[in-house]
Amino acid sequence: MINSIRGFNDILPPETSIWQHIEKEAREIFEAYGFSEIRVPIVEKTGLFSRSIGETTDIVEKEMYTFEDRHGEAITLRPEGTAPVVRAYIEHKIYGNDPVAKFYYLGPMFRYERPQKGRFRQFHQIGAEVFGIDDPKADAETLEMLVCLFQKLGLEGITLQINSLGCKECRPLYKEKLLSFLQDKKSQLCHDCQRRFEINPLRTLDCKSPGCIEITAHAPSILDAVCDGCKTHFEKVKEYLALSQVDFSLNQKMVRGLDYYIRTTFEITALGLGSQNAVAAGGRYDGLVKSLDGPDTPGFGFAIGMERLVMLAKDRGQQLAVSNQPLVFIAILGDKAEKEAVGLIKRIRTSGIRLERDYSSKSIKSQMKRADKLGARYVLILGDDELSSCSIIIKNMQSGEQEKVALDRVEDRMKELLRKSASIKINLDIL
Ligand code: HAM
Repeated sequence: MINSIRGFNDILPPETSIWQHIEKEAREIFEAYGFSEIRVPIVEKTGLFSRSIGETTDIVEKEMYTFEDRHGEAITLRPEGTAPVVRAYIEHKIYGNDPVAKFYYLGPMFRYERPQKGRFRQFHQIGAEVFGIDDPKADAETLEMLVCLFQKLGLEGITLQINSLGCKECRPLYKEKLLSFLQDKKSQLCHDCQRRFEINPLRTLDCKSPGCIEITAHAPSILDAVCDGCKTHFEKVKEYLALSQVDFSLNQKMVRGLDYYIRTTFEITALGLGSQNAVAAGGRYDGLVKSLDGPDTPGFGFAIGMERLVMLAKDRGQQLAVSNQPLVFIAILGDKAEKEAVGLIKRIRTSGIRLERDYSSKSIKSQMKRADKLGARYVLILGDDELSSCSIIIKNMQSGEQEKVALDRVEDRMKELLRKSASIKINLDIL
């Protein structure tokens, strides 16, 4: 038997309903904020990621799925969505009409990480990117949109943590300050932090190893060290977040694992997700478009981890109204009815009603049993008696009530009945 690859998951019904529901809500909110969907390839040239995410990041050093194609070109399964969207923005000269562009995307990403709760090798992100606005209002408004999505999904108990990482002028100065603080403690840092000590000492700040946490507890604060421009930017972000009633807390030790960020960075964490508790993250990346040979265009964005979001909804035992229509089942009795049913079923389905049937001409009893098992709200019964009077029986499976309607009226009557019943709820506890 061939099983799926470690860290690559199947997403099965009925859980797919939750995914669809979240995706629908996200699309609705993002479109309302002026974002349009962009679809970029799953595979890109390896250089796109190493140049943007950073050569010394965990993602580029050890997590990318990189292969040679048949012509020996190094290609990589995308580990994230920002770099491909930036590439598309430059390649199609989207900045030509107007440098301001807002995109969102949904899809799988790939990282060769050690799988554990909330961490997979193929995972899915819903992301959004804003180009061409360096104003802190764009940071705050994009965060407002993200938090709105969580609220709309009824997910409370999440925390938005923000930080500023300074810019290319002030961060090197902070890096020096941090290096001199850490210098005499270097040998006590974890192996990874020692290895990247000179190149990226900031990573020590959000290292999860207990030794590094203890050492950096009294490290100089980045927020005290950033330049006036970065300070003002950060103050404005906080001011506008407060104006839009978005709660946040400061986390001066949050560094992020991708090198392209400057100024505002953030994470949304949630209780109950275990050690992989970041359900969304992102920040500002002015300079990235230019570094990939585009015009000097600022950028800001985020990505939500879909698996973690779905896990959160399930853990909270939430009742999510899902858009699945109630099911109607048709029980067919006899050869004549079987043939008549073909056109009728086609008509009902193409009118938008969700209809299931049995294919094996079983007894009425076993067909009703199957309808019950599938959770059908109504059963249509078509037998020789009904055919002779050009009618069909509609049975309400909850109340047991039955009515006879003319065959040519069945779609209209079903629509009337279905309109009356509210959208079904899927209890996430049972998934
Ligand atoms: P990231 O922090 O690497 O940022 O990923 C964003 C989110 O994706 C994480 O917070 C997490 O929920 C989810 N995630 C990441 N890795 C995994 C994994 N192995 N398994 C399950 N979920 C995972 C980015 O990817 C940036 N591109 C975000 C961004 C957009 N910044 C600006 N624009």
